[in-house]
Amino acid sequence: MAFENILFDVQDQVALVTINRPKSLNALNPATLEELGEAVRRVRQDDALRILVLTGAGDKAFVAGADISEFPKMNPLQARLFAQKGQDVFFGLEDLPKPVIACVNGFALGGGLELAMSCDFIYASEKAKFGQPEINLGILPGFGGTQRLARLVGRAKAKELCMTGEMIDAATALQLGLVAKVFPAETLLEETLKVAKAMAAKSALALRAIKAVVDRGVDADLKTGCTLEVEAFGLCFASEDAREGALAFLEKRKPQFKGSFTA
Ligand code: COA
Repeated sequence: MAFENILFDVQDQVALVTINRPKSLNALNPATLEELGEAVRRVRQDDALRILVLTGAGDKAFVAGADISEFPKMNPLQARLFAQKGQDVFFGLEDLPKPVIACVNGFALGGGLELAMSCDFIYASEKAKFGQPEINLGILPGFGGTQRLARLVGRAKAKELCMTGEMIDAATALQLGLVAKVFPAETLLEETLKVAKAMAAKSALALRAIKAVVDRGVDADLKTGCTLEVEAFGLCFASEDAREGALAFLEKRKPQFKGSFTA
């Protein structure tokens, strides 16, 4: 598939995907969702790609939401399909067995916030703004916003944000735990890529295990989550990486991780 609405770049072992519809503040129309899904599949299939970074084109928006110009012509069934499509693509990101970092360079509203929340963590520019403004359109979030926001910031705050449509700034998002770090706008991408490249040199197997155990465990009870952790911990010791990590530490050298399962 040739991409028309996104840019797909590779830097070292990091895939940088940029939603590229700056004239409509990178709003997600069905074609863009389709391309995003394809980009995620590419990253999944290519062993040389270790980390995915998602950002938005231009200096104004990450993604300003689902494309509202599509809404007036949608009947309920089409709206349901559209929401399902968005959810499928975002679950694809969440289930990608590689870390995904959202690099939020401006507005992350509606589907934009939902997209960012489907990533493993969010780095934001000081200028970023977050919100679920669907209530102002007479609807509710449809790409998982009610669920992921409640899990990230708690039920009451999520309900307040979804019910008022209030926009919050990066400092507030950081305080809520929605955002992991905030950077000046000029250095956000550079700092995000620096972290992504450093993570690309770590054990791919261990990264995958952390993602799976946190994501599966957080929705389970503590004992189930800890059981997942104990099994993943044991499984890591089947890898060359676990041996290499410990030996490198003891030999006072930098580890060379391969990410393979071979004992
Ligand atoms: N869908 C489609 N187009 C969108 C869009 C969206 N979600 N968000 C912005 N745009 C378009 C605007 O229609 C405008 O297009 P135009 O230049 O052809 O008129 C262009 O992007 C620039 O947006 P504009 O509203 O002029 O910029 P602004 O700086 O005044 O406001 C926002 C920025 C983000 C506050 C405002 O665009 C907004 O509220 N967008 C909708 C957010 C939303 O409700 N998202 C949830 C959708 S479910």
